[in-house]
Amino acid sequence: MAIDEKAARPLGDLLQAGDSVEQLYEEVRAAFEAERGAAASADQVRTLRDRWLGRKNGLLTALNDNWLKSVPREYKPAVGKLQNRTKKAVEAAVKAAEASARAGAAKKDLLDVTLPGPARSIGARHPVRLVLEETIDIFKGLGYSCAEGPEIETFFYNFEALNFPPDHPAVDEMDTLFLEDRVLLRTHTSPNQIRIMESRTPPLRYVVYGKVYRNDTPDATHSPMFHQLELFAVDTNITFGDLKGTLDYFLKRFFGERTRTRFRPSYFPFTEPSAEVDIDCPFCSGPGCRICKQTGFIEVLGCGMIDPNVLRAAKLDPETHQGFAAGFGLDRFAMLKYDIDDIPLMFQGDARFLRQFR
Ligand code: DAH
Repeated sequence: MAIDEKAARPLGDLLQAGDSVEQLYEEVRAAFEAERGAAASADQVRTLRDRWLGRKNGLLTALNDNWLKSVPREYKPAVGKLQNRTKKAVEAAVKAAEASARAGAAKKDLLDVTLPGPARSIGARHPVRLVLEETIDIFKGLGYSCAEGPEIETFFYNFEALNFPPDHPAVDEMDTLFLEDRVLLRTHTSPNQIRIMESRTPPLRYVVYGKVYRNDTPDATHSPMFHQLELFAVDTNITFGDLKGTLDYFLKRFFGERTRTRFRPSYFPFTEPSAEVDIDCPFCSGPGCRICKQTGFIEVLGCGMIDPNVLRAAKLDPETHQGFAAGFGLDRFAMLKYDIDDIPLMFQGDARFLRQFR
């Protein structure tokens, strides 16, 4: 017997036929569940609601009238409980079906203006860009100008004019990537010292930055492309004291007021005398840690007084002019400043990484 038919009979008749009250309400629930499962669209859900919950002709009204009202008074509490529970369950399920039909319709409706717009993430500045901007800011305050230069360079600007002797092993050491004979991807930003000295007249104070290339196998600490920043000053009365004072000021501004610097003698073909500069480790401030390899110091840049041969190559007279220069890796500075320990992360463009530096 279908559920509609049963709902139309007095409960007593059905019980006489052998059904129990619980079983009957169980059947009602099962019939509802089956119909509810088949109702997806808003129209189908409306039909379902009218059929089950309609005030006058709904099935639950029929059950109330034909079953509940017909039983003797002493059975009413038990049957009333089942009737109530069933009604509540049907009402809740119809409500949920209405909501999901609405959501389904909204998905199909391209012009639903009540839906929130697609989330657009705000871009973030790359850590290398952040380091560049901060450095430029500091040097602008000291009266420096900014410049860029070509990434495709000649052997002359990249090596010869910078006082690399012919057949200097640095050509190999720097893992130069040649494009043709005497044309290459610049291995450092130092060629711009020559380009700027050639085209401007001193006094000069410049910050030059950009990509540089070396034939390195990429790993956690090497990348065939990275970023350098070169700074130099040329005038008639420049001393090593100016170099030390300038770099000490810059490194304190960049890494923190308490940073101490250490100048170690070194060698570069284009500077004489040359030095490498260490700072006390910004991570452990002295005693030694993983990042400074237990030494308490971190090497951060190379520098020196511009070699007279370099001034001559740029058509300046070393008798009247001197200068200092320094260069460092922007990527390395970013890794130190933001405690990044893996170069590839810097160049993979993963938004989850980049968002951290906003
Ligand atoms: N050009 C050097 C390099 O790529 C870095 C450098 C060292 C630049 C000393 C300078 C300097 O201007 O004075 O390894």
